[in-house]
Amino acid sequence: MKKINIRYIQNAKFNKEKIAVLTAYDYPTAKLIDEAGVEMIIVGDSLANVVLGYDDTNKISMNEMLIFTSAVARAVQRALVVCDMPFMSYQKDISSAMENIGNAIKSGANAVKIEGSGEYVESVIKRCTEVGIPVVAHIGFTPQSINAIGGHYIQGKTYDGAVELLDKAKRLEASGAFAIVLELMPEECAKYITENLCIPTISCGAGRFCDGQVLVSDDVFGKFTGRKPSFARRYGDMQSLITNCAKQYIEDVKSGNFPAENEIFHLDENESKLLNIH
Ligand code: KIV
Repeated sequence: MKKINIRYIQNAKFNKEKIAVLTAYDYPTAKLIDEAGVEMIIVGDSLANVVLGYDDTNKISMNEMLIFTSAVARAVQRALVVCDMPFMSYQKDISSAMENIGNAIKSGANAVKIEGSGEYVESVIKRCTEVGIPVVAHIGFTPQSINAIGGHYIQGKTYDGAVELLDKAKRLEASGAFAIVLELMPEECAKYITENLCIPTISCGAGRFCDGQVLVSDDVFGKFTGRKPSFARRYGDMQSLITNCAKQYIEDVKSGNFPAENEIFHLDENESKLLNIH
């Protein structure tokens, strides 16, 4: 099975083939979605909410991200694995940014994702590009800036807003980003950016015209018990599946229906007699 590289992702835009991206955080899920054929797997900092139960993505640490990134990387044979750099892992200065980014790659990621724009973020992307680390940029709604933005607001809602976002995207592309996530924006704005960039755009609530789509896998599987964004589509109901399995198990334990004969180990009959059990 041939491993997907950044060339594959960039050619997909050129060949007008949509890129399917999902998040994953653990070995079994990553293995299954890789075998299903997803092309890029992002170990998103959404891990904070959907797996670790934090109320905010900004609470996750670099060390936590590394544990889950390495689990995903161990499982994946084909997809490109991207580690989402968590809050304050790259914002402080270039030196600590490069140390954390280097550790993400050492944990098995093929690329990193960095939120935001502006001169500093561009300089981090340039340094990564110089040392051969592929970067996915991320603009529009950037969850790590939730406190500054003030809520989950749609970005680029005017002509000026769209022009400003394209300018940011072009600068990130010029800095070396090989792809860019566009989060929470009108699809016309995302289309305008997509048509004016050479690198692929990946929509996260940015409509139909991006080069690819990304969703949080726990939303797709119906596993996450918290709020599902309106732009996410649920393809399954793992919540009911897990609850029903747990309820049946509890019932079987209480009724003595579990374990059954094929789920039991026996002592040799003669040995058993010596125990004098009833
Ligand atoms: O944290 C995350 O899961 C993400 C992806 C949805 C792009 O940033």
